[in-house]
Amino acid sequence: PLVLHVLGARPNFVKAAPVVRGLDELGVRQGIIHTGQHYDALMSDVFFADLGLPEPVANLGVGSGTHAKQTAALLVGLEEVVEAQEPDLVVVYGDVNSTLAAILVCAKLGIPTAHVEAGLRSFDRGMPEEINRIVTDSLSDLLFATSPEALSYLATEGVPAAKMHLVGNPMIDSLFAALPSLDSSRLEGIPARYGVATLHRPANVDTPEAAAELVSAVLEVSRQIPLVVPIHPRGRARLAAAGLVDGPGVKVVDPLGYVDFLSLVKGAALVVTDSGGVQEETTMLGVPCLTVRPNTERPITVTHGTNRLVTPAALPAAASKALADGASTPAGELPVLWDGASGPRIARVIAAWLKGENLSP
Ligand code: UD1
Ligand code: UDP
Repeated sequence: PLVLHVLGARPNFVKAAPVVRGLDELGVRQGIIHTGQHYDALMSDVFFADLGLPEPVANLGVGSGTHAKQTAALLVGLEEVVEAQEPDLVVVYGDVNSTLAAILVCAKLGIPTAHVEAGLRSFDRGMPEEINRIVTDSLSDLLFATSPEALSYLATEGVPAAKMHLVGNPMIDSLFAALPSLDSSRLEGIPARYGVATLHRPANVDTPEAAAELVSAVLEVSRQIPLVVPIHPRGRARLAAAGLVDGPGVKVVDPLGYVDFLSLVKGAALVVTDSGGVQEETTMLGVPCLTVRPNTERPITVTHGTNRLVTPAALPAAASKALADGASTPAGELPVLWDGASGPRIARVIAAWLKGENLSP
């Protein structure tokens, strides 16, 4: 049997690496299809190198565009390559447009699918990712959840329990694997004590108004602690136009590779973000995280971790408090099964499924 992984964007690569490794160890034949949704070397190649991912069997080169144009290109490209490869199972990750397109294509071709990171919900349909999550989960045959509340959301939406598996968080497997390599001295020109800011949500960076409000709050934080800002290409121009540029207390850098970025985060006194994955990584690393969003699909990082949701207006005061409180210890017990063994767990379920067995959830 053949398993294909459809990957397109930075966080997909991080989540897939442990699953690919787990399947390798079980001798399952597999391949990666890279959609090309992310294509800059610093958004793609560096992750294959840092995470030890094998070369994709195909790169569709779909690139950027409006949601309709990008999704349309993904559908057309994926249909052709998936039909040609004849996989027995296609594995999709997270909530990006490549995930949505892959699940639609496979559902129409009658090819079984597995969704890694199923059941996350922000209950905010203004987020493109929320739409992708709902559609993806409704069409998946195997659903792998990172946290218990995901299972109850899926049950509410009518997903049968037999399809769901609570397996923990493969993004945390990648973090555990990288831990021995994390060292902030590999980065040049970083202050001794610093914060990190990373911002790319459309609601924060896509309009000049939102960008202006956010940047003014971030600059206020930079007067409390110097900030290093690895900039996602999506927000580069608008955040710069709003004043987020190199200056006293602010160092804007290109997107960082995986090991460089986590090295930076591990050594930070504070992280300001709107990323999904970074909320989880800071929870595991015990670094205080302020998430500039009205909601999160990862509430476990608030209840069991170091994450707090803030508005731009509340960010400076929240930063000052987080810095005064010092290195935060997680609020409760760390999330269950975030133990570095999620990839092998997922691989075991997939390998059994390929033999016609359903490992009990
Ligand atoms: C996508 C995901 C988002 C995820 C993020 C991870 C969707 C709908 N969104 O958002 O959930 O959090 O990836 O990083 O799938 N660009 C480049 N180089 C690249 C890639 C993108 O310059 O290699 C620029 C282009 O101007 C592009 C813009 O970034 O238009 C947005 O890229 P896109 O993939 O559409 O969405 P992201 O904002 O990256
Ligand atoms: N990341 C990285 N370099 C950066 C910013 C993020 O390697 O400059 C990593 C981060 O550690 C995490 C993943 O990219 O593993 C998260 O991706 P992103 O924030 O782009 O997407 P989201 O999680 O919001 O979908």
